[in-house]
Amino acid sequence: VNYLRNCWYAAAWSAEVGSALLSRCLLDQPVVLWRDTGSGVHAIGGRCPHRFAPLGQGKLVNGRIQCPYHGLQFDAAGTCVVNPHGDGAIPREARVRAYPAAERHRLVWLWFGELGREDPALIPDLSFIDEPGTAAMSETVYGHGNYQLFSDNILDLGHAEFLHPGFGAPVFTKGKRETRLVGDSVQCTIFHPNDVQSPIVSQLLEITNKRVDYWGEITWTAPATLVFTSYYAEPGMPRDTARRLPSFHVFTPETDRTTHYFWAGTRDFRVDDAALTEQIQRATGAVFRDEDDRMIAAQQELMGTSDLFSLRPVILPGDSGAVLARRLLEKKIRIEAAASDASPR
Ligand code: FES
Ligand SMILES: [Fe+2]
Repeated sequence: VNYLRNCWYAAAWSAEVGSALLSRCLLDQPVVLWRDTGSGVHAIGGRCPHRFAPLGQGKLVNGRIQCPYHGLQFDAAGTCVVNPHGDGAIPREARVRAYPAAERHRLVWLWFGELGREDPALIPDLSFIDEPGTAAMSETVYGHGNYQLFSDNILDLGHAEFLHPGFGAPVFTKGKRETRLVGDSVQCTIFHPNDVQSPIVSQLLEITNKRVDYWGEITWTAPATLVFTSYYAEPGMPRDTARRLPSFHVFTPETDRTTHYFWAGTRDFRVDDAALTEQIQRATGAVFRDEDDRMIAAQQELMGTSDLFSLRPVILPGDSGAVLARRLLEKKIRIEAAASDASPR
């Protein structure tokens, strides 16, 4: 499978990585993560090069991972530094890959590309999550489909009215949409004035029986980071007077057919109301899990491939953002593959 390599992928929430080993499959590769009090988060390949035992089931000994099978020890650079057998000589091939790690926006990001190019400035800006005066919530959903289906699902809000009757509003099928390229990102916007909101949104915003002007703005950045912001304003009022609900949706392939789905959102009202945070998180998470993921799992099953275009899908107007994002990602992967074929080995 071809993944874009020279980019950062979210591997875990920062809070998930502690001094215990965390095993995770990312881009079809087993990886072990852990936190060192002095030097931060480390990540190395999770398959021992001796007999391919899972290093994540080993233990940390003096800051090194000891393989649970025959006890070879690997340091944070992935190099075997202790061999308890025979004269202790260490075969040169006894090493696993180390992945550069960086922590930003409450997530741990790993670099799967060429070493030396891992610039943390390339991590997408999701800093709104730590904006003062806001309340944040976050969750992971285990996604049963290819990661690009999850990006498509956020870029295409036309499904909301049908798949999420509790959340859906006419805005998603009837609003005025635009899709454009902003730098290297795809941005989809939707505007629907004088809109009636669903019961859940109305309750949340305390706007029952009121109409609002609604703007939705979705920005996709390769390989699969999406920021989705909803704005709700009094009819006729400018957007900067609106109540703003931003969220991010970061998708990391576990395999070609499964996805780690990290989402988080904030709000800037009733920020101290923990019960409200929990209520929104529960309602939102249930929608992503029980409605979106369930549909994507069924789609993936019937598709039988992760190559959407090979099935020649029917394209609707609301698909423009997803199609553009897929084309862009495809192009980036192609350029990267061509460059690595051309480079001397
Ligand atoms: S499998 Fe890891 S030391 Fe043997
Ligand atoms: Fe959805």
